Amino acid sequence: MVEPSLSNPKSDAGGMNPDILRHILSRWRPEDAKDPSSDIPKLLYCVPTGGNPTGSGLTLERKQEIYRLAQEYDLMILEDDPYYYIQFTEPLVPSFLSLDVDGRVIRLDSVSKLISPGARIGFLTGPQPMVQKILYKVMSSTSHPSGISQMLILSVLKKWGHEGFLTRMEDLRNLYREKSQQCIVHLNKHLRGLAEWAEPTGGMFIWIKILGITNTSDLVTKAYLKDALFVAGKVFQIDSSAPSQYIRASYAFATHEEMDKAFSRLAECLKEELSKKI
Ligand SMILES: Cc1ncc(COP(=O)(O)O)c(C=O)c1O
Repeated sequence: MVEPSLSNPKSDAGGMNPDILRHILSRWRPEDAKDPSSDIPKLLYCVPTGGNPTGSGLTLERKQEIYRLAQEYDLMILEDDPYYYIQFTEPLVPSFLSLDVDGRVIRLDSVSKLISPGARIGFLTGPQPMVQKILYKVMSSTSHPSGISQMLILSVLKKWGHEGFLTRMEDLRNLYREKSQQCIVHLNKHLRGLAEWAEPTGGMFIWIKILGITNTSDLVTKAYLKDALFVAGKVFQIDSSAPSQYIRASYAFATHEEMDKAFSRLAECLKEELSKKI
């Protein structure tokens, strides 16, 4: 097994790589999970669909393998999955929660990406003792989500009904799938040969590797000054002071014309940076 590094990242276009996870966990023995003094990890956090920032999603096979590893090392899985209904291929890949036979998955859903981010409503599903503990924590911090927001979302859901909700989710999938494809068209037009990317499998983001430079911070600032907004890859790293060759673009709101302008301006800024190096 090769050590994970920037050129051999811990996740790829298919999301978290179970082989790398196994390699990382092999520093411990599965029996260490029973030793309270061991520093063995206890929880695996994961964004299984439309990864923010990578746009990648786990296949069912990867989820099953990761779940088996969680069983072997007795890990809880925290499944942060607000983009679940925005998967671009159907049938939808089932959630970790639906694979759970041990009560080791806590699932987080949010209406932010599906109905309204301003409502600030999310919900949690998982084993009762864990949910109860989290509930106590909520009671001693925010008390509960806004009652008005809860009423609003409840009445929307009641009005739509189950079938109506699923139809809306299908519309949403179609909308974002189309937007992701438009984004790829403009990337190809302006950045072919200057950058590399993997097609998103869901969600709202595309993760772009910029070729020829080692850190995208200045590039992102220059593009911003030309009204083109991207996020520098380094802000998504555990060590956000380390350089990153990546940028994240969101296709959620931008129109065809805006995407065209944004990538054209990014390419201009990049060519300027590259010409300084010659
Ligand atoms: C993976 C992930 N989890 C959670 C959230 C936050 O969702 P909420 O608006 O419900 O706080 C986001 C939003 O960007 C996200 O990308």
